[in-house]
Amino acid sequence: MSDKVHVTLTVNGRSVDADVEPRVHLADFLRHDLGLTGTHVGCEQGACGNCTVISDGVALKSCLTLAVQADGSEIETVESLATGDQLSPLQQAFKDAHALQCGYCTPGFLMTITALERRGGALSREELRGELAGVICRCTGYETIIEAAEDHLAEVAARG
Ligand code: FES
Ligand code: FES
Repeated sequence: MSDKVHVTLTVNGRSVDADVEPRVHLADFLRHDLGLTGTHVGCEQGACGNCTVISDGVALKSCLTLAVQADGSEIETVESLATGDQLSPLQQAFKDAHALQCGYCTPGFLMTITALERRGGALSREELRGELAGVICRCTGYETIIEAAEDHLAEVAARG
């Protein structure tokens, strides 16, 4: 008899039915079972934030969540941002500000900022730094990432 558990969830607007082993974490499920390799895995212990996705509107480290715990959830990954070859406004802000080098951390920042954007409300630069502190970047020194996030969130606020 299979040890697998049946899960039904929504991923990037698409309904997913799958049988998963109970020990598989959500990041591996997204990457290996669904082929959504934009979600990156760094530490697998909740420290680097590179695996951040949005679950029911909230940023979530997908290495700390079992796939079976996502049953019934609505998951969004970095693949949901662009439309074909067209970058989303947040992705474009990262590009414009040179906010990435190797890009390994970028999906984690993009999804964390997307959740912040939806939450709304103004943030000081220090508050923004605090909100993004859960994602580690080894390349950029963070300044350009903060600039990209600030520029994007200001533009969203100006649009109302
Ligand atoms: S891989 Fe999930 S926090 Fe590092
Ligand atoms: S751009 Fe390389 S880890 Fe952030």
